[in-house]
Amino acid sequence: DLRLISDQLAATRLLPVVVISRAADARPLADALAEGGLRTAEVTMRTPAAIDAIRALAEVPDLLVGAGTVLTRAHVEQAVDAGAAFIVSPGFSPEVVTHCAALGVPVFPGVASPSEIMQAFDHGLRTLKFFPAEQLGGAPMVKALAAPFADARFIPTGGVTAASLPGYLALPSVLAVGGSWMVAPKLLDAGDWKEVTRLTAEAVALAKESTN
Ligand code: 3PG
Repeated sequence: DLRLISDQLAATRLLPVVVISRAADARPLADALAEGGLRTAEVTMRTPAAIDAIRALAEVPDLLVGAGTVLTRAHVEQAVDAGAAFIVSPGFSPEVVTHCAALGVPVFPGVASPSEIMQAFDHGLRTLKFFPAEQLGGAPMVKALAAPFADARFIPTGGVTAASLPGYLALPSVLAVGGSWMVAPKLLDAGDWKEVTRLTAEAVALAKESTN
């Protein structure tokens, strides 16, 4: 449920965003992430392999897998059916969030402006993806948005790297930071699990430093 997922995100404050081209990479990816210190992943519904990857990851013990790039009600159906424990969307779709609510599946819709945050609030949602974070102004923008929306919790995502990560994590309004930098498609395609683990461990260490 939402509480469990929020607690897990709050614990490491990181959400790796995966674009996977081969479902067979799901298991080694989960192992590489776990070795780096993360047991959470968002698999984007951008590739034909995404659903099978979600299905494989949903079977890994102690791994929390969600679906990202969820744009339609049909995507919600497919992702939840495959075992996605949460749904992430790049924007705010009343249809997507209403359907998630009906299914009882936590959803983190994307927002980029005060009006979109207010729409999400109207639907009772407080944990929101801020996307695309770097391009919209980065941590200073999140800080400015948090001022009028005191109970919003943001997951800034989009263009984030190890270099910009600490700036976001310094903000109390940031629940976790999302990004593909530690699970870049080129690393997956090359089977470079060592590098996935190294970048994950680096991010985990930065998150610990920024949080304490
Ligand atoms: C997403 O879908 O959340 C983004 O593609 C992730 O952004 P990034 O690839 O720039 O980290």
